[in-house]
Amino acid sequence: RKPVTLHRLREMHAAREKIAMLTCYDATFAQLLDAAGVDVLLVGDSLGMVLQGQPSTVPVSLDEMAYHTACVARGNRTAWVVGDLPYGSYHQSNEQALASAVRLMQAGAHMVKLEGGGWTAPVVRFLSERGIPVCAHLGLTPQSVHALGGWRIQGRDEAAAQLMRQHARELAEAGAQMLVVELIPATLGRTLADELPIPVIGIGAGVGCAGQVLVLHDMLGLTRGRLPKFVRNFMQGSDSVEAAVQAFVAAVKAGQFPDDVQHGY
Ligand code: KIV
Ligand code: NA
Repeated sequence: RKPVTLHRLREMHAAREKIAMLTCYDATFAQLLDAAGVDVLLVGDSLGMVLQGQPSTVPVSLDEMAYHTACVARGNRTAWVVGDLPYGSYHQSNEQALASAVRLMQAGAHMVKLEGGGWTAPVVRFLSERGIPVCAHLGLTPQSVHALGGWRIQGRDEAAAQLMRQHARELAEAGAQMLVVELIPATLGRTLADELPIPVIGIGAGVGCAGQVLVLHDMLGLTRGRLPKFVRNFMQGSDSVEAAVQAFVAAVKAGQFPDDVQHGY
C-alpha cells in the first residue's frame, strides 16, 4: 500500500473508514503490523509497563521513547508512526515541549502524542504551528494516574462529560490532528467522535469512535494478570501473530470491535 499520510487519515475519516491503530515498540513488530494493514503504529509510553515492568508510565524517559521510536521507524514501511511524549517532557514550557517533540520526530515519528486537557491546548498550538502534527489524549490519561486516583472510568457524570467535550474542542481548535480517548462511556466516545472535525481513536471508549487502538501485548494475549474489560485477545481463533493482527484490523474496519456490551462502559 501507499504510505499512510495525514492527508490519507483525513480521507479515511471523511469516508468513515475506521482507523486501526496498535502500539508498537520494536522493528520486528513494526514490519509485521505494517504488512498486516495496521494504519497507525503508536510508540506508546505503555512500553514502561509492557517492556520495562514498571507499575505505571511515569518512569519512562524521553531517551527511551526516542530509542523505541527509532526501532519502530526502521521496521516500518507505510504506517503512520505516532510517538508518545513521556511524563514531564512537555509540562514545563512550550520550548521544552518543542525540544522533546523534535527528538521524537528526528527519531522517525510522524506525529507526537501528549496527554491532558485544556492546559495542553497552547502546547498543541505551539507544536502544530511549527509543523509538528499532534495527537491529543483525553479521558484516563495514564501519566496522571496518581492524580486521578487510579485506573478508573473518566467522564462518567454530566459535568465531567461536558468538560471533556470542551477540552476536546479546544485541542482541535489549537491544531490537534487526532485525539485518543481512553476509558470513557461509549456514549461519550460517540458524541466526541461525531462533534469533532478530527479522527477520535478510542481505547475502552466504545464502537462509535473513528478508530480503535489497543496495546499490542494485550491483544496478543501476552499480558498476565487482570486485563481491562475493553481488551480482546485476537490470538483466540488465529493461528499466527500475523493472523491475529489481521483479525484486529478486520474487526475494527467492520465495526465489530469493540462490542459495547462485552467491552464497553
Ligand atoms: O501508551 C499507550 O499505549 C497509549 C495507548 C493506550 C493509547 O497511550
Ligand atoms: Na501512552
